[in-house]
Amino acid sequence: MTSPVSGQFPGVRPRRLRQSAALRVLVAETRLSAHQLVLPLFARPGRKLRREVAAMPGVFQLSPDELLKEAARAYAAGVHAVLLFGIPDKKDAKASGAYARNGIVQQTVRLLKKELPTSLVITDVCLCEYMEHGHCGVVRRDAHGARVLNDASLKLLAQTAASHAEAGADLVAPSDMMDGRVRAIRERLDADGFAETPILSYAAKFASAFYGPFREAAESAPKFGDRRSYQMDPANAREALREVALDIQEGADIVMVKPALACLDVIHRVKAEFGYPTAAYSVSAEYSMIKAAAAKGWIDERAVTLESLLAMRRAGADILVTYAAVDVARWLKES
Ligand code: PBG
Repeated sequence: MTSPVSGQFPGVRPRRLRQSAALRVLVAETRLSAHQLVLPLFARPGRKLRREVAAMPGVFQLSPDELLKEAARAYAAGVHAVLLFGIPDKKDAKASGAYARNGIVQQTVRLLKKELPTSLVITDVCLCEYMEHGHCGVVRRDAHGARVLNDASLKLLAQTAASHAEAGADLVAPSDMMDGRVRAIRERLDADGFAETPILSYAAKFASAFYGPFREAAESAPKFGDRRSYQMDPANAREALREVALDIQEGADIVMVKPALACLDVIHRVKAEFGYPTAAYSVSAEYSMIKAAAAKGWIDERAVTLESLLAMRRAGADILVTYAAVDVARWLKES
């Protein structure tokens, strides 16, 4: 590599460009904008329901009417994209609630697209919230224990995605990590007349301890075992690139890396290698850790949140999924 600087001190003085706020902002390589933000929201059946998630202050399980209000508030603050999760009343062994025509996500999507038609509604496509065992696919028990079946899960995932599209979802976002699910979903969407519905795939999703608080929010913790037979080992970056390559071959339009802060290297390599629209999911524990430390007065919530998101942008993320999206949009407006 040729040297990025010609000359040396005292001719070269990097501090020259750091002297004033106006100068610093002029040479900033990376910027944050509300246009990059996606707000995750949790829908559950009911009316006038706002149940705060204990480990995620400021995040609520919401009935569809309340979720609409929250989405409208976000929209007014400049956050025009939401990512929906559903918590059904009943769970079973085939995740019926995930693809029910009038399931909680399907209902909420219809309401949002009717009342807030210019908002972008993305739906998380997974089975864990709807399965009685809390796994992201179909489980078979035999003499050797329980296994999450890949191919049997694909049909249910494809059906779920199609039912979200039918309800009006603008994008579908599979997060299950079964092999071949992007292709299964693409084929099903095309067959059902939704060839124009893009897929945002959670392409490189690690089996991460940073999802802890989410499982309380979505009531989706596995009842036995863990997700390491389908989500990726945090030790692996080259495997993450293969996962992303496969998803792109199968038809993913946007690829996501998750978690974000612990995977900045992966975000960087994915963007550099493929140049695809790339999303980073700043997951539940990233949010909870900042909230908890800020509540104790140990860190500056706003500064730490903005710096974290800026780091994801610098790594290569185009799209930032964050529970702090509305605060962030307000902070950006103020500054
Ligand atoms: C569902 C799903 C999870 C998250 C997003 N989609 C949980 C998991 O895989 O256990 C995590 C999001 C977060 O922690 O904020 N499969």
